[in-house]
Amino acid sequence: MTHPSPHRRSTTARRLTVATAPQWFVAATAHEVGRKPLARTIADKPVVLFRRRDGSIAALADRCPHYGLPLSSGDVIGDDIECGFHGLRFDGSGVCTYMPTQKLPPERFCVHAYPVDECDGQVLVAITPEVDEKVAEAEPLVRRSKETDREAP
Ligand code: FES
Repeated sequence: MTHPSPHRRSTTARRLTVATAPQWFVAATAHEVGRKPLARTIADKPVVLFRRRDGSIAALADRCPHYGLPLSSGDVIGDDIECGFHGLRFDGSGVCTYMPTQKLPPERFCVHAYPVDECDGQVLVAITPEVDEKVAEAEPLVRRSKETDREAP
């Protein structure tokens, strides 16, 4: 049995590092991001930006995990963004903080949060192509029809 040479392993590791390394993109100027959700497409990814009450900025995938509709059509409530369709709320880290029909939202019900930085009047968002591509293509976590609801125990 042959083993790959150390050189070959290091080349593979380098490729993996390059493929999964985050890339920073200018998403907006600092004054464009406020308490109203701002939709942007960055590296083909829909992203929503908003400012928390302390002035820090959050960047989330602009796709509600409920039915995949854009979070940017909702509102910023406190430090959270509220989906304009059925009222789910997410904090800046993407955690679902409020679901109208449940006391405790399921932990898996979250939105991808992007690293974000504000520097010299610009807002930068880090996209990791290999990782974030899967997020962008993921199906909504909940897609239930009335028929499914009837079959549930
Ligand atoms: S689509 Fe966002 S809460 Fe239903």
